[in-house]
Amino acid sequence: MWNEYLNAVAVDEVLTVLSEKGSRARIVAGATDLLLEMERGVRPGLDTLIDVTRIPGLDRITLDEDDVIHIGPMVTHNLVASSKLLREKAYPLVRASWEVGAPQIRNRGTVAGNLITASPANDTITPLMALNAWVVLKSVRGERQVHLQDFYKGVRKTVLEPDEMLVDIAFKSLASNQHGTFVKVALRRAQAISVINVAVILTMEGSSIQQAVITLGAVAPTIIHATEAEAYLAGKLLSAEVIEKAAILTQSAAKPIDDIRSSASYRREMVKVFTARALQAISTGQEQAGMPDSPITLMGAEKQAKSAQFSASTHNDTSIIETTINGQKYSFTSGSDKTLLRLLREDAGLIGTKEGCAEGECGACTVFMDGKAIMACMVPAPRAHKTEIVTVEGLANGDKLHPVQEAFIQDGAVQCGYCSPGFLMSAAKLLEEQPKPSRNQIEEAITGNLCRCTGYYKIVKAIEDASQRQEA
Ligand SMILES: Cc1cc2nc3c(=O)[nH]c(=O)nc-3n(C[C@H](O)[C@H](O)[C@H](O)COP(=O)(O)OP(=O)(O)OC[C@H]3O[C@@H](n4cnc5c(N)ncnc54)[C@H](O)[C@@H]3O)c2cc1C
Ligand code: FES
Ligand code: FES
Repeated sequence: MWNEYLNAVAVDEVLTVLSEKGSRARIVAGATDLLLEMERGVRPGLDTLIDVTRIPGLDRITLDEDDVIHIGPMVTHNLVASSKLLREKAYPLVRASWEVGAPQIRNRGTVAGNLITASPANDTITPLMALNAWVVLKSVRGERQVHLQDFYKGVRKTVLEPDEMLVDIAFKSLASNQHGTFVKVALRRAQAISVINVAVILTMEGSSIQQAVITLGAVAPTIIHATEAEAYLAGKLLSAEVIEKAAILTQSAAKPIDDIRSSASYRREMVKVFTARALQAISTGQEQAGMPDSPITLMGAEKQAKSAQFSASTHNDTSIIETTINGQKYSFTSGSDKTLLRLLREDAGLIGTKEGCAEGECGACTVFMDGKAIMACMVPAPRAHKTEIVTVEGLANGDKLHPVQEAFIQDGAVQCGYCSPGFLMSAAKLLEEQPKPSRNQIEEAITGNLCRCTGYYKIVKAIEDASQRQEA
């Protein structure tokens, strides 16, 4: 899929390669969008990928002395979802990141990648637009700041130049009189792209609204403001009548299309219903309802990226990928142009990890990379250079099965077994993160894993039993 893969360790190195190669090179972060685009032929002529995920310091979320929040380009959705700072000062973004994909996708997918892919259905653009965020774009030519409002030119089109790297996402933190939320309508609870999404932020003066911001996703070529509703709400009290009128006005901004996920008329109706629900939730102080205090991330103990001692590496058909898999060292002289899933199965001969969809949807390929659960089909193999991988073959301790493996056998949580390696990996990582998970937490942990024959009751029961076994 690519000729050369560069694991970069400094921003300057990235900018130099981008300036030399132009649109033949492209930055890769979590790869959860880019890999699929490349497979679908959307990026012809691309021969070099520049991986920026190991550049130290890019995965930080900070608050500066002017109350501006900065989100580094390597901040993943799970880092946002579990950030206490953002929960307090930018809740709509936290909610949106938590609604992206499933834990394994959120462990790799970044907010920066989400902004740059620029699909009108991408979840974090809507709250960041409502927060009036800006991005900092850097190249060897210099640095510029662009407000998100001016960043988008159309469906999947931005003003980012081929030689530029996004180095910061920034916005003013919400004050104590500002309340906001994000709501998403999708065809299922996880792993589903928005049919529509809405972000609402109200600035209150006592009980009346000083300023209202309402942004809408998936109802126009780019994320839009519901300007009529915003103007109507200013100066009003948040009564049932006002909420209803504002929700109806929001519809006039929406210019949705019919597509595979929804009809335009359903989208228009949902804009009204969900704007009303968001306003209602804010009016009763319930805007964070349904969001767990500590979302399940499957990140393991090592929450930030392991990048400290890594030196840059370039991978092509003559170079080596060195990894440790299940405690054993491997040196691969082939496979640098494929996915980690294919490297594990075809080059390492570890066929326990399964390929179900090869699109990040089914979770059958779940493995741990540097302690985090990830989908191996969504990781370029050279990204695994100098990492530690654990596959289902490494879950048992010698002859002693892992408690989740024992429980799956005892509870009959396996029929064809094709999905089982993925479920076992997610379940094992969950018990590491939360040794006594609630039913909700178990369900959250396996939202990225699909089973088409056992059904989920026995699998959930097996994970509950594994938790008890582990405790015993
Ligand atoms: C199964 C599945 C489910 C998904 N569910 C959702 C969902 O529910 N909601 C949603 O919004 N999205 C969803 N996505 C899409 C995707 O996961 C997100 O858009 C993610 O945030 C992309 O981030 P990334 O780091 O993986 O980007 P990448 O794929 O690495 O990059 C995306 C684009 O951004 C560019 N890029 C990345 N970082 C930089 C940078 N610093 N500077 C310049 N260019 C850069 C890349 O060149 C590329 O063009 C899903 C994807 C999958 C596979
Ligand atoms: S998620 Fe990787 S094969 Fe389905
Ligand atoms: S056991 Fe067959 S798909 Fe899950």
